[in-house]
Amino acid sequence: MTPPYGLQGRAAVVTGASRGIGLAVAEALAGAGVRVCVSARDPDAVRRAAERVGGIGLAGSVTDAAHLDELTGLTLRTFGRLDIVVNNAATNQPYGPLMDADPEHWREAFAVNVEAPLRLVQCAWRAWMGEHGGAVVNVCTEGAEHVGPRVGAYGTSKAALLHLTRQLAGELAPGVRVNSVSPGLVRTEMARFVWEGSEDELGASLPLGRIGRPEDVAAAVTWLVSDAAGWITGADLLVDGGTRVRAARPDSPAHAVHERLRRRTPDGRGSAR
Ligand SMILES: NC(=O)c1ccc[n+]([C@@H]2O[C@H](COP(=O)([O-])OP(=O)(O)OC[C@H]3O[C@@H](n4cnc5c(N)ncnc54)[C@H](OP(=O)(O)O)[C@@H]3O)[C@@H](O)[C@H]2O)c1
Repeated sequence: MTPPYGLQGRAAVVTGASRGIGLAVAEALAGAGVRVCVSARDPDAVRRAAERVGGIGLAGSVTDAAHLDELTGLTLRTFGRLDIVVNNAATNQPYGPLMDADPEHWREAFAVNVEAPLRLVQCAWRAWMGEHGGAVVNVCTEGAEHVGPRVGAYGTSKAALLHLTRQLAGELAPGVRVNSVSPGLVRTEMARFVWEGSEDELGASLPLGRIGRPEDVAAAVTWLVSDAAGWITGADLLVDGGTRVRAARPDSPAHAVHERLRRRTPDGRGSAR
């Protein structure tokens, strides 16, 4: 990729960057000349991802406040700056009807999907961005704007992340821009239980004719953190292949993703209700 938009020489932290969308974001940023620090829980996968993007990595959970502190410190010690934070790590658990949701798992969803992004931005703000400026992108979901079967905890926490994005955008301006991207269905491990075996059918149900690739989201994130988006903050960029506008098509089918969510579970046990 040709280094675009003046990102050359900047430094970024990307969470959940050992695979899927996070890895694609880390690769796209590195391709644009950004020095990248990747994080995820599996140390081997983190090492591989760091090598792949020519950057550094630190294994740990985003629910561990010390990990987020260390991530910030390591990036600053190694690169001398921290211009970009991409809060991408997430959980889609607890999955199922909310009346069955275990309160501990519910709290975990908010710890990973909402609290960790705030904590990491606090670390980056205190250590670098408050004085020098920067850009943050939170990875939300197209589904955060509406309800869906069995994804109540995920959707509620992502809706909170969307709100957090806007609140932070107002509080941290003008030095730090805070935006989000909201992907539709993307071909990754987290969503495998939705697309596996039905990819063509799901793609055909979308206006743009295919489900997403991690690179689709990575391109949007790269643009949002760049100076090309310098007058954009508090925005949510949909990267969904037209999922939200599909109802305008004369042959629009029922929401194919919701049909999958009703029939399948992340652990492959199928639907009880
Ligand atoms: N795929 C989709 O269809 C889709 C749609 C809308 C939104 N999204 C959003 O896109 C983002 C990336 O999802 P994905 O589909 O790329 O998922 P994925 O392929 O399953 O990757 C998730 C990444 O997050 C890491 N991770 C998970 N829990 C973590 C934790 N507690 N602490 C640190 N790292 C953690 C994983 O590595 P470890 O397991 O080693 O920690 C992995 O690197 C998420 O925010 C998700 O909500 C995805």
